[in-house]
Amino acid sequence: MEAVLLVHGDREYVRQPGEELQTDLGVLDVPEDVRHGDELETHLGERFVAQKLRGPDLFEHFERTGAPMMPRDAGLVMGHTGAGGGDRVLDAGTGTGVLAAYLARAGAEVTTYETDPAFADVARENMALGGVDDRVDVRTGDVTEQLDELVEEGPFDVLTLDTGDSAAVVERAPELLTSGGFVAVYSPFVESVRETVEAARDGLTEIRTFETIQRRMDVSDRGTRPSTAGVGHTGYLTFARKE
Ligand SMILES: C[S@@+](CC[C@H](N)C(=O)[O-])C[C@H]1O[C@@H](n2cnc3c(N)ncnc32)[C@H](O)[C@@H]1O
Repeated sequence: MEAVLLVHGDREYVRQPGEELQTDLGVLDVPEDVRHGDELETHLGERFVAQKLRGPDLFEHFERTGAPMMPRDAGLVMGHTGAGGGDRVLDAGTGTGVLAAYLARAGAEVTTYETDPAFADVARENMALGGVDDRVDVRTGDVTEQLDELVEEGPFDVLTLDTGDSAAVVERAPELLTSGGFVAVYSPFVESVRETVEAARDGLTEIRTFETIQRRMDVSDRGTRPSTAGVGHTGYLTFARKE
């Protein structure tokens, strides 16, 4: 049994079966045989529901290191590349591992690189929490220094890149990808989009960049309109394909 989401009103915690949850609501022992939908009581009589952990919970509950990809951007990556069951995905950098875990939960086998050893350790723990440690190989190292070996290890169906030096990997994408495979690059700043696109023009096709904007709607008694709180922009996503 994988980790469960423990929900009490608008409060949520993630624990593995057999673990203890201690909060101001009391101490809760999560049974080894906990099932989704079980109601569990703390020693103070407060009730939690044990829910199944799903993709968006990874973003909320993984321990954070590198800025994690938001669920909407993970959705765009998966929608535009079709990444899913049976695919081999090369991902960098791992960071918190949100994108890697989304891809693995969709059935892909993910090899992901993280330069920072401490971040890589946290990502391995996050993969275990997300129940995908058997499908995500978190490797400590700089992906740009492993490209010759990765070309040998490939081909990959999809490359997902979220680092400042993604263009260096995109330059080698024609060698890393299988025919019909996609590269997806997340860029927080528009300046790196140009670098990525110029690298992709040398050997890839179907090059497209999207600004990702999402507006939450507020639905109230007064009326319905886009929320005035928060920022709708997260970054830019560039996709390209190998013929
Ligand atoms: C923005 S985070 C990635 C977040 C990740 N996509 C997620 O969904 O959680 C970028 C990470 O890439 C790592 N990184 C930067 N350059 C790298 C490289 N050349 N090879 C491997 N990792 C790299 C950084 O240490 C950082 O943790």
